[in-house]
Amino acid sequence: MHETNLLTLAMRLASQAGELIASQRQALSVSFKDGTELVTQADVAADRLITEGILTIYPDHQILSEELNPEQATDAEHLWIIDPIDGTVNFAHKHPQVAVSIAYYHKGKARLGVVHNPFLQETFHAQAGKGARLNDQPIRVSGKEELKRALVATGFPYVKDELPLLMNRLHTVLQNCADVRRLGSAALDICWLACGRLDVYYESVKPWDFAAAQLIAREAGAITGHIHPLPAGANPELCGDNLLMSTPALFKPLQALLQQADQLTSKQAATA
Ligand code: IPD
Ligand code: CA
Ligand code: CA
Repeated sequence: MHETNLLTLAMRLASQAGELIASQRQALSVSFKDGTELVTQADVAADRLITEGILTIYPDHQILSEELNPEQATDAEHLWIIDPIDGTVNFAHKHPQVAVSIAYYHKGKARLGVVHNPFLQETFHAQAGKGARLNDQPIRVSGKEELKRALVATGFPYVKDELPLLMNRLHTVLQNCADVRRLGSAALDICWLACGRLDVYYESVKPWDFAAAQLIAREAGAITGHIHPLPAGANPELCGDNLLMSTPALFKPLQALLQQADQLTSKQAATA
């Protein structure tokens, strides 16, 4: 099994899923998972297209995908991680910040990632050790060094049970950085960091939201990590809690700021 074949397959399936979701956007049937999280028939159809496309060629590979197989264990030798539509709320509201995300991991390590936006015709991809590309052109992070010039992206979970933490983080970022964007697709936020349109990204998300984009950002020169040290045994490549990614110079200052914000949240909770 050659990695170039895996990349060709991922690119083809991302493009086909992109066409499918674009064609289904006119007549959407929307429902809500757990009462809050929006999902459409296109999410499920695109997941099926990608999952079947992989299993037809590699029947022994495992698939972790948001709609059809969200409970798949992440320690499989050959693991594909799929978000059929990242930015579903944007998709349903006819905003263009929407992506299909496909990653391939071997023994817990990212080998390739594809993030395709069918509405802007932009495809980001990377292979481990081979750099990152947007529509086949090499990309790099902005190289931003000054905190007060940094444009920071983040997002908010569907279930709003951690508002004090989210607000304290936002407060400190707005106080110390240039501005904030909430664009609605974690995968694209991270790819936009990779190509220099954003300087920092932080959020807590699921593996399918960032598995492909994280490799793309890293290959484009970003530092990818977490706000807090991870628990022993956690795979840093697949732990979506408290993600932080940025240009090299901004990582430590942002990490310190966000840690301070979280300490404040703990203190407030203790005295409430
Ligand atoms: C969501 C998007 C959003 C992020 C949410 C994710 P979905 O994914 O990535 O930017 O803030 O946490 O759940 O639901 O559109 O696939
Ligand atoms: Ca997602
Ligand atoms: Ca999704």
